[in-house]
Amino acid sequence: MHKIAVIGGDGTGPEVVREGLKALDVITKKYKIECQFEEMDINGERYLKTGDILTDNDMAELKTCDAIYLGAIGHPDVQPGILERGILLKLRFDLEQYINYRPVKLYPNVESPIKGASPETIDYVVIRENTGGLYTGVGSIENKNTPQEVATQSMIYSYTQVERCIRFAFETVKKRHQKAPWKGLTADEKANGFIGKVTLCGKTNVLTYVFDLWERVFNDVAKDYPEVITNYTHVDAVCVHMIERPETFDVIVTSNMFGDIITDLAAVTQGGMGVAASGNINPNGVSMFEPIGGTAPSFTGLDQINPMAAIGAAHLMLDHLGYFEAANELEIAKIKVIKKMESMLAGKMGFKTSEIGNMISDELCHMDPN
Ligand code: IPM
Ligand code: MN
Repeated sequence: MHKIAVIGGDGTGPEVVREGLKALDVITKKYKIECQFEEMDINGERYLKTGDILTDNDMAELKTCDAIYLGAIGHPDVQPGILERGILLKLRFDLEQYINYRPVKLYPNVESPIKGASPETIDYVVIRENTGGLYTGVGSIENKNTPQEVATQSMIYSYTQVERCIRFAFETVKKRHQKAPWKGLTADEKANGFIGKVTLCGKTNVLTYVFDLWERVFNDVAKDYPEVITNYTHVDAVCVHMIERPETFDVIVTSNMFGDIITDLAAVTQGGMGVAASGNINPNGVSMFEPIGGTAPSFTGLDQINPMAAIGAAHLMLDHLGYFEAANELEIAKIKVIKKMESMLAGKMGFKTSEIGNMISDELCHMDPN
């Protein structure tokens, strides 16, 4: 029996999570996966009413779960930062979800702002370090509100933090290409036994301490994976390549701050916030799966928001829990429904949020198990 905490959160979070749960209900029954979903009232509304952000009781409860399914966090009446830091980042830190796993995949019938983009050319994964770097929260302000004011924010990484993240990226290559090598390899590379590629995204020309560490660890870890091609690219060039030649990426590994930035750019190339999902992963603990679209306050309660990112978070969660076939089937159902939609944009989908959830369930009911 898997216990899964469900945090709808704020804004359109509960609406998209509801559709994800419909799909999870059907697919888990079909594959006889026993799940108990436990809805938890952790959000901005509760904070405004009670002052509670994330209580010790909440944390204790979450630690007993196998995974967390999250909608979105953020409230228009709460100063930005309080809920993001107090809920989202606190969960990532306290549950040691040190990997942010973000698949970047352009599905058929989804419009990309990149000319000539296709499901063939946009299909990679970003592994973002998720608990260190500039997010560590170490810094200071001296002489506040004077002309002499100096603010610092430290980018802090230990060898261990970098190593476990980079190793996860190499393991991701192995997992992605266990059946067939990455299509971006040349015939020669395939003949020589290569299976895929990891790109380290850094800034060794300016951040000469932190990315010196990242590059050394990258080269150390790479020795354990002779079947994986390695590449180093500065973060600014990575942004250019994501637009001009996304087909050159297989797995990208990067620091927390760079990962935050490049994954939003990546999400836009794959059709926007309506489709992009991510996993906050602790390989030995409680992981959390979320659509990356945010709370979308102007669409709250209208039944117009795109639930596909939440469906994506649901199949990432099944995959993480080891139900590969069920995850795959849910992804196929998602692709089938996406083909029927007019757009991935909220309000322009040709269907309501709830109708899309029902269409996913229908597909699942009629599909043969893989
Ligand atoms: C994300 C978000 C968060 C981050 C914010 C809300 C704190 O932008 O998940 O990428 O910066 O990590
Ligand atoms: Mn972000």
